Amino acid sequence: MIPSVLPTYNRAPLTFVKGEGAWLTEADGRRFLDLGAGIAVNALGHAHPALVNALTEQAHALWHVSNLYHIPQQQALADKLVEHTFADTVFFTNSGTESCELAVKMARKYFYDKDQPERVEIITFDGSFHGRSSAGIAAAGSEKMTKGFGPLLPGFVHVTFGDLDGVTNAITDKTAAIMIEPVQGEGGIRPVPDAELKALRQICDDNGLLLILDEVQCGVGRTGKLFAHEWAGITPDIMMVAKGIGGGFPLGAVLATEDAASGMTAGTHGSTYGGNPLGCAVGCAVIDQVATPAFLEGVNRKAGMLRQKLEGLIAEHPEVFEEVRGTGLMLGLKCKAPNIDMVNAGYDNEVITVPAADNVIRLLPPLTLTEDDIAQAVIRLDKAAAQVEESMASA
Ligand SMILES: Cc1ncc(COP(=O)(O)O)c(C=O)c1O
Repeated sequence: MIPSVLPTYNRAPLTFVKGEGAWLTEADGRRFLDLGAGIAVNALGHAHPALVNALTEQAHALWHVSNLYHIPQQQALADKLVEHTFADTVFFTNSGTESCELAVKMARKYFYDKDQPERVEIITFDGSFHGRSSAGIAAAGSEKMTKGFGPLLPGFVHVTFGDLDGVTNAITDKTAAIMIEPVQGEGGIRPVPDAELKALRQICDDNGLLLILDEVQCGVGRTGKLFAHEWAGITPDIMMVAKGIGGGFPLGAVLATEDAASGMTAGTHGSTYGGNPLGCAVGCAVIDQVATPAFLEGVNRKAGMLRQKLEGLIAEHPEVFEEVRGTGLMLGLKCKAPNIDMVNAGYDNEVITVPAADNVIRLLPPLTLTEDDIAQAVIRLDKAAAQVEESMASA
C-alpha cells in the first residue's frame, strides 16, 4: 500500500525533534552534529535567538494578508537586499524552484518587450540543478530528473560545465540568457572559477544577453561573501535566491536590475504566499546577522580552519577520500569509496553530511559553526571514514 506521505524521498532512518546551533537531537536522545544544515538552509543554525524572536514577534502580530496589500516586512527586506547587492528590485517567492520560474519568465519578458520575442532560449550547464518544476527540470536537463515528465518546457540549451567555447557556439539569435550556479551544489560542489564567471559576464555583454545566477545554495554568506559572485567582481542581471535567506522558514527571492526587470509590470507575476510577513520578518533578521563584515570574516576564518583539517583527514584516509573542493562553508569531499557509505557511516557516528553527484559528500554547516564544532566535525568524520575503511577491508 502506498504510504500516506507520497514516497518520493529516500529518507534516512532518523527523526530529529530539536535543534540548537549546529546540533540536532534525535527522537532517541542522540545528538548529531549537523554539517548539512537542511541542505544549506539553516544558515544561522537551529533556533537562533534572533530568528526565533523575529518569527514569534511577527506571529503574534500578523501572519498573512496577501499581496493585495502593502507588507512592511517585505518592503524592509527588499530595501536591505537592494542596499547590499547589485539589485534594484526584488520579488519574493517561497522556494528556489519558484525563483527559477520567475527568472526564466523575467528573461523572456525582457526580450518580448524589446521587440525581440524570438529570444527565448536560456543556456544552462550539465550537472546544474535549478529545482523540480517543469522549468527547473528542463533547465537542468538531466535524464534523472526529466525522464517520464515530458513534454519538457522548451527553450533550454545545455552546455558542458566549464566549456566557454561551447557557450559561445550555443548562442544564436534566439538566445536570451545564460543561467548558472556560481558553485554547483547538487552537481557535486563544483565552483565556477572567477575567470570563467567574468568571461560569462563578458559574453553576455558582448551578445546582449542576460546573466542569471542561481545562488539558491551558494548565496547568503555561504562562500564568505554575501553572494558568491562577489568573489569574481561581477554582477548578474537576475539572481535566484532561497534556502539560507529564510534560515529555515520557506522564503526565496529573485533580485534583478531595473533594466532586466523592466518587463515585469503589474499583473505579470504573483504569488499568494511569496513575501508574507512571517517569512520576511525572518529574512530581515537573517540579513541583519549575515550582511556584516564581521560575520562574513568569521565564515572565512572558520572555512579556512575546516578546510585545513579536512586536508588532514584526506591524508589520513586516502582510500576513502580523493580531494576537498568548494569554497567557504560550501565544501565537498570527493570520495573514492561510495559517497553513500560515508554519509551512512556519518549517521553511525552522529555527524550529518549530504550526498551530491560526482561521488561527493557535501559539508554545508550552519555559518554559525563554532571552533569546537569544527573540532567535533573532524573527530566524527575521522571515525566514520575509519568505519568505511574497515568495511572496505572486510568486503
Ligand atoms: C542551486 C539550486 N537552485 C534551485 C534549487 C531549488 O530550490 P527549492 O528546493 O527551494 O525549490 C536548489 C535546491 O536544492 C538549488 O540547490
